[in-house]
Amino acid sequence: MPPTRIIIDTDPGVDDALTFLLALASPEIQLEALTTVQGNVAIEKTTRNALSVLEFLKAGDIPVARGCSRPLVKAPHASGEAVHGSGGMGRTNLPDPASKPIEAHAIDYLIERFMAEPKQISLFAIGPLTNVALAIRKEPRIVDAVRELVIMGGAIRSGGNITPLAEFNVHEDPHAAHIVFHSGIPITLIPLDSTYKCLLTGDDIERLNKIDSSIARFVRDATADYMAFYLKYEGFNGCALHDPLTLAAIIAPELLTLEEHYVSVDISGGVSTGKTYADFMKVSKQPANMKVALDVKGREFVELFLERIMSLRGGVARIAPRRRSNLQADGEIASSRRSRSSQ
Ligand code: RIB
Ligand code: CA
Repeated sequence: MPPTRIIIDTDPGVDDALTFLLALASPEIQLEALTTVQGNVAIEKTTRNALSVLEFLKAGDIPVARGCSRPLVKAPHASGEAVHGSGGMGRTNLPDPASKPIEAHAIDYLIERFMAEPKQISLFAIGPLTNVALAIRKEPRIVDAVRELVIMGGAIRSGGNITPLAEFNVHEDPHAAHIVFHSGIPITLIPLDSTYKCLLTGDDIERLNKIDSSIARFVRDATADYMAFYLKYEGFNGCALHDPLTLAAIIAPELLTLEEHYVSVDISGGVSTGKTYADFMKVSKQPANMKVALDVKGREFVELFLERIMSLRGGVARIAPRRRSNLQADGEIASSRRSRSSQ
């Protein structure tokens, strides 16, 4: 069976980077591109982190398109630096990237890729949904061209992680989430209800560190502050694999408990702004608009994550075939990448 081709819209972010790792270590997945958005940290940092992590994983051939620098309506969140560190990548110290993002804006790149190959590529949104919402507004036909949209976001029965009710990605741009949720695009939602059951623990990091691998050291350094934050504020020695769990939709769907529901998000501007809610009693008479992962075999997923990461012992990830697009950078950037990747 050919690998599932995916584009990840992302705000790296520690768990975002762990998602790139898992995608590149999974033969079921072909990572085609990254599009960046502000969220955990500012757009300059999320874009730099996307480029530098791909280069670290020897996948610098994968294009990165820079996206929106602020939410549609509300002011950007101060920053996720308390969780993800000042640079957004914990205690890692990756060199500045040699490559640059492609010329096209993330919105235009998403439209160009999905309209060029309808139903061939899946989109994984693991940051605020600003780019995705604007791509839908600019080219409504994209709704029928995306094979599947898998979103890390929301808190259905779970409490929130940025307010008592709301999850960070949705709360950061609730208006974008509202547009996406009601667009008709085929959605699988991976909310906190399941991601908080996928805890990477200090013992797991110790297991990783028994192998002499730059990848294991990267995971240790990236998650150190993340884990310290969870221990201090949430009382457990570990960190939730929020973003990586989205890939279970491809690599281990049997671990997810998915239910179809009508889900929306509060944009009223009050205390529950950004709260996602499912109409379990079907009182709104609205048809279901997404599949929701309300539960997961969390430990099994974490073991699968570790197994895949440890398979990258050599630190060399699979390099996805070069994907060119009309909007991709012009010749010299592409050729400079080619020459670098052949070094
Ligand atoms: O609530 C978890 C989400 O917020 C993850 O995507 C994490 O990276 C942060 O962006
Ligand atoms: Ca994220």
